[in-house]
Parts: sequence; structure tokens; C-alpha cells
Amino acid sequence: MMKLVVSEVHALMSLLLYVNSGICQDSVISGFVGEDILLPCVYKNPVPVHVFWRINDADAVLDIINSNPSTATQIAKYSGRVFSFPKEYSNGNFSIVIKKLQLDDANLYECKIPDADRPKSVKLQVSDQDKERKTMPPPADGAAASNLSVVLLCAVSLLICF
Ligand SMILES: *[C@@H]1O[C@H](CO)[C@@H](O)[C@H](O)[C@H]1NC(C)=O
Ligand SMILES: *[C@@H]1O[C@H](CO)[C@@H](O)[C@H](O)[C@H]1NC(C)=O
Repeated sequence: MMKLVVSEVHALMSLLLYVNSGICQDSVISGFVGEDILLPCVYKNPVPVHVFWRINDADAVLDIINSNPSTATQIAKYSGRVFSFPKEYSNGNFSIVIKKLQLDDANLYECKIPDADRPKSVKLQVSDQDKERKTMPPPADGAAASNLSVVLLCAVSLLICF
């Protein structure tokens, strides 16, 4: 019995190490066409005053300059669709919401600050709601049991990443 548990834990750890190479780099967020989605970004200790949300290394999604949101350099496709939470800036929360998702919003979003070793990034996946509903797999039997694995995965990822 004990042996089984140990080997399961070992298998889980191996999986984690494998999965982690991706998780540390960017988290993945999935949304549906037409919906609003929150892309998280938190920087603390110290809380920065300039934050730059970018895609494709250069295209501006939203800038936060001196703790004020700025759309001056924002590319056209995000015009009027991207919002942040100025009241949350002082908490280090620079998350944005993209409204009315489009399929071509799928991208790697980088939340950059000056002098950061590595920008935080979020991979956004967008799928067509109708297609997704039709191809949705039936709920897995082991749903309850997998909760623990998911919690462990997150906990260990955090440990390894930070
Ligand atoms: C940031 O603020 C928004 C708006 O209040 C909230 O929905 C979100 O959960 C916050 N994110 C974090 C990581 O605190
Ligand atoms: C596990 O997940 C299922 C479905 O998401 C939920 O209904 C259930 O309450 C969860 N169980 C535990 C122990 O968290």
C-alpha cells in the first residue's frame, strides 16, 4: 500500500517537473468568442508605476504610465476593448480585461515592467463557443479525485517557480 502511494507521488512529481517548464513561463487562460476575459498580472515589492502589456514583443495592448492607464500607443484592434483596474494598482494588481473576445485575440500577452528579469506572461486561448459545446467531452469519472492533483500541481508549481 505504502509502496503504491510512493510510486504515485513519484509519478506525479515527474509529471510536475515536465509540466512546470511551461507553467513557470506563462499561465494559460482560455476564453470564448464574445466573452470578457481577465488576464492577471501582479507585481509587488516594489509595486511599479510603469507597466506595459504587449503582444508580439512590440504591439501595445495597454500601458500604465505613472500609475495611469494610457492607450496612446495601443494598436487599433484593442481600441475600446481593454480595461484595467486603477484602484488596484497600489495593490500591485495590473490585471486587464479584454472585452468581446475574438478568435484572433489568442496570443501570448506579456506584462512587462522596466528592469524585470523576466516579464510575466499569460497565454490566451480563444475558442468558438458553439464548436466547443458540441465537442465537449463528457465529465470524467475521476473528477473528484483529480482535485487533489490540481491543488498539488499548483502548490508545487508555485514552490518551484518562486
Ligand atoms: C485584480 O483586480 C481585479 C478587479 O478588482 C480582480 O478581479 C482580480 O481578481 C484582481 N487580481 C488579483 C490577482 O488580485
Ligand atoms: C472536486 O471538484 C468537483 C467538480 O469541480 C466539485 O464538485 C467537488 O466539490 C470537488 N471536491 C473537493 C473535495 O474539492
